[in-house]
Amino acid sequence: MAKHIPVELGKQYEIDITGMGFQGEGVGRIENFAVFVKGALKGEKVKVDIEKVQKNFAFGKLIKILNISEQRTNPICPIYELCGGCQIQHLTYEGQLEFKRERVENVINRIGKITDVKIHRTLGMANPYRYRNKVQLPVRRENGEIKIGFFKQGTHDVIDIDECFIQDEVADKVVNLTKEWIDKYRIEPYDEKDGSGLIRHIMIRRAFVTGEVMIVIVTNENELPYKDEFIDLMLNNIDGLKSIVHNINNKITNVILGERNILLWGQNYITDYIGKFKFRISPLSFFQVNPVQTNVLYNKALEFADLTGDEVVFDAYCGTGTISLFLAQRAKKVYGVEIVEEAIKNAKENAVENEVKNVEFIVGESEAIIPKLIEKGVIPDVVVVDPPRKGCDEKLLHSIANANPSRIVYVSCDPSTLARDLNLLERLGYKTIEIQPVDMFPQTAHVECVTLMSKP
Ligand SMILES: C[S@@+](CC[C@H](N)C(=O)[O-])C[C@H]1O[C@@H](n2cnc3c(N)ncnc32)[C@H](O)[C@@H]1O
Repeated sequence: MAKHIPVELGKQYEIDITGMGFQGEGVGRIENFAVFVKGALKGEKVKVDIEKVQKNFAFGKLIKILNISEQRTNPICPIYELCGGCQIQHLTYEGQLEFKRERVENVINRIGKITDVKIHRTLGMANPYRYRNKVQLPVRRENGEIKIGFFKQGTHDVIDIDECFIQDEVADKVVNLTKEWIDKYRIEPYDEKDGSGLIRHIMIRRAFVTGEVMIVIVTNENELPYKDEFIDLMLNNIDGLKSIVHNINNKITNVILGERNILLWGQNYITDYIGKFKFRISPLSFFQVNPVQTNVLYNKALEFADLTGDEVVFDAYCGTGTISLFLAQRAKKVYGVEIVEEAIKNAKENAVENEVKNVEFIVGESEAIIPKLIEKGVIPDVVVVDPPRKGCDEKLLHSIANANPSRIVYVSCDPSTLARDLNLLERLGYKTIEIQPVDMFPQTAHVECVTLMSKP
C-alpha cells in the first residue's frame, strides 16, 4: 500500500519547528512527516510553502515567522542568505554552540546507540568572526562584471564579496586589489563552461601569530601578464606580505590548486605557531583553518590522552604531524602515520624545526601500517585517530582493539561517522567516557569533536 503523505506540493502550512537538521535547517512535523525549512529555528512557529516532496520528508520555503525564537539574531553579513559559506548566522552564538552539542548527542544516541556518555557544552570562541586563516575564492566574469567570492549554495554562480566576516580582513583587501588589477589591465577571468580565460582563483593565507601573508594567484596558463604590476600593487598595500606565488592549474577540475608553483616574490612559505610549536605553511600544505580553536582542540586531545611520559602513542591520520608534536611533549615515543607523502615530509621537517626527537613519521595507510607496527612488537599504550570525514577504516579499528591500548582518543570532523566508529569500538570492548565538541567553524553547521574511550 502506498505510504500516506500528509503534505501537498505548492500548498501552505503552519508548522512548529521542533528540531534542527544537519545543515542548520529547522525541522517540523505534519502528522509525523518531517518538513525541512531553511532559515527557521527550533522553537519557532512558521508558515511554509511546500516546494519539494519526497518519500519520507518534504522541503518548505519559509514564508513567515509566526512566533520568533529568542535565539534568532540579525546576521551581520549582508549577503548571508545568498552565499553558501555560512549556514547559521541567524542563530545567536550561544544557540550555535547548543545546536552543535545537540547534533552530536543526536547521532551518538541514534547511530552510535550510546546513551550513557557525557557530551560537554561546545567549546566556543570569544570572538566567533574573522577566524579563518585561509580563503580560496573563484574569479569569474558574469554579465560583464568581475566577481570574486563564494559560490551561491548548490551552484557555480559566484556571489561577489567586498567583505567576508569569517575570514581575515587582509583577504578582503587582496580581493579588492585583485579586481582593480584585472579591470585595469583587462585580464580575462576563467570561464568554467569552455575552459577559456586566465585567472581561476585567488588564495590568501594569513598566519595568525606571526601575521605573515601569502597570496597565491591560480591561472589556467603558464604565463601571467602584468605580473610586476600585480606584485607592486600588493607590496604597496598589504602589510606582512612574505610570499606571492603563481600556481598553474590547466586541468578541467574542481580541484583549486594545480601542481606547479612559480615563486613571484618573497619566499615560498609562511610560518605560524600552534601553541609553542612552529610550522612552515607552503601553498599546497594542509593546515587547520582556525588556529585559535586548533590549539583548544589539540590541548583537549592531549588532556584526554593523559600521558605520563612513559607511553608509546600512535597518531593515525597525522597530516603534517601537528597533533604528534603536541603528544610528544608528554610521551616516550609517538608514531605518526599519514597517507600523503608530502605531508609526512612536512611532518619530519616540523619535528626537526621544533627539536622534537621522540617522534617517527611513516607514510602509508593507517589500516596497513599500524597492524604491521603491532606485528613487529610496537604496542601502543594510547592511540589517537583524526580521520577525514569518512571516518576510520574498520580494519584499523579491529587492529587497535586487538593491541589493547588503555585509551583511545578520537578527533573527528563528522559526528555521524564518529558515532558509527564508536559503536564498533564499544562492541570491541571499549567504553565511551566523554565527548567534547569544539567549535572550529563558527557561523557554519560544521562541528568537530574529541572523544575519550577507555577499557572498563
Ligand atoms: C582530518 S585530517 C587530520 C590531519 C592532522 N591530524 C591535523 O590535525 O592537521 C585527516 C588526514 O588523514 C589523511 N588520510 C586519509 N586517509 C588516510 C589513510 N587511509 N591512512 C592515513 N592517512 C589518511 C589525510 O591525508 C589527512 O591528512
